[in-house]
This record gives sequence, C-alpha cells and structure tokens, in this order.
Amino acid sequence: MTLHETAASTNQLAAQAAVADSIVVADHQTAGRGRLDRSWDTPAGTALTFSAVVDPGLADHDWPLLPLAVALAVADGVRRAAEVPVELKWPNDLLLRSPDGHEHKVAGILLERVPSAADPSHPLAVIGIGINVGLRSEDLPVQTATSLAIAGSGASRTEVFAGVVPALATVLDALRSGPGAVLERYRTECSTIGREVTVHLPDGEELTGTATGLDRNGRLLVGGRAVGAGDVVHVRPA
Ligand code: BTN
Repeated sequence: MTLHETAASTNQLAAQAAVADSIVVADHQTAGRGRLDRSWDTPAGTALTFSAVVDPGLADHDWPLLPLAVALAVADGVRRAAEVPVELKWPNDLLLRSPDGHEHKVAGILLERVPSAADPSHPLAVIGIGINVGLRSEDLPVQTATSLAIAGSGASRTEVFAGVVPALATVLDALRSGPGAVLERYRTECSTIGREVTVHLPDGEELTGTATGLDRNGRLLVGGRAVGAGDVVHVRPA
C-alpha cells in the first residue's frame, strides 16, 4: 500500500502503475475524479480516498457486474465500521437518509479497466472509492452530500478502510464463483429498485419510469428498457 499526503487522483496513480493487488491511498486529492467525467472534491483530512487494483478474474461479459459488487462491499464495510444504515443507489452510490427522510450521498465508486503493467494483454480493474468520513455540514462540496460524521458516526478513516478492504476481497471472491448470489443480494439491497426514477442517459436522453429490476448484466430495467450507464435520480418512493 502507498499512502500519499497529496495526490491528484488515486485512480490516476493506480492506473499508471497498474499492479495487481496494490492499493493507493491519498490523505487529500487535488483532482479527484468521479463517474461520468465529473470531479470528486473533498477537503483535506476529511474523506477516505483510495484505489485498489485487482485482477477480477472475470469473463468480459461479467465485468459490468463489478461496480455493483464493489458497492455491496463498500456498504458492508461502512455498516460494520461506522454502524450507519447506508443504502445503495444504482449503480454504485451509497446514500444515507437524513432525519427528514431525504437521501444524501456519502460515498462514490469509480471503476476503470486498465492494461496490466506486467502483461498489457491482461486487464485489471482500478477500484476507486471515496467515502465522506469526517466532513462537517460546512465542508460539504454539494448540498446533496453527507458524511458519516454528520450521520452521527465517530468512525475514523482508518477504521472505515479496515472495514471496507476485507469486504472487497470477500465480494470479489463471491463474484468469481458466479454472478448469481451477488446479483441476488444487490437486487435485495438496492433502494433504486421499485422506485420511480429519472435516468439521464449518456447521450442526453432522459428516461422516466419505475425501476423494476436488474438484468443478468446488472443493467437497470426502467419502463421495459435495460440501462447500462447513466445518472439516476430517485423521483419519489414507489
Ligand atoms: C462518483 O460517485 O462519481 C465516484 C467518485 C469516486 C471518487 C474516488 S476517490 C478515490 C478515487 N480516486 C479518484 O480520483 N476517484 C475515486
């Protein structure tokens, strides 16, 4: 594991090195990256930001399940370490509910596929995880965010890291033995399923309807369509 006081982005460093079973942690990221080409900003010393490089050992057609599996692992690790009731929003946001029932994002995951440095014909997964641990209300980069501390947890970044890393190993092992159990667990735990949602698709199209489930590839089923990527907004409870 390498720990950087400051890094532009742990995903960027991890992807450059591309060494399986390595972990890059940053105390502070100056150019953290989010999904859909967004940025991921957190004040120094408040968030757990790290990237793990793994050889998932999956057939290409099972790679789309990785983001869902990682979300389950991060949720497990955070629940164990911080004792807060995190919920999953498809594909891999972790949410916490405020006392008034509104959902706020507490963690995000960015997965990238990179060629292994040892054998460029072999793909590795860079699993970037950002968890808002100690941010106070005034530190929040956006009002739709929250932190474990705001939810009342006193867990440290180290404790959350120690909860998430083994959970990641466990869920990756489960995925390697077949997608069935991971998909089934995700279907049960994902709070998007059964809700009315609007999906902002990468081509700019908007799709509104009830999220009825997942297909075998982890795509969200909305109004009879299977959606593989996009930004989901929970409109209201089903
Ligand atoms: C998202 O929800 O949009 C994904 C956010 C992922 C942020 C993490 S922080 C550690 C790693 N390094 C990055 O640059 N991004 C990921």
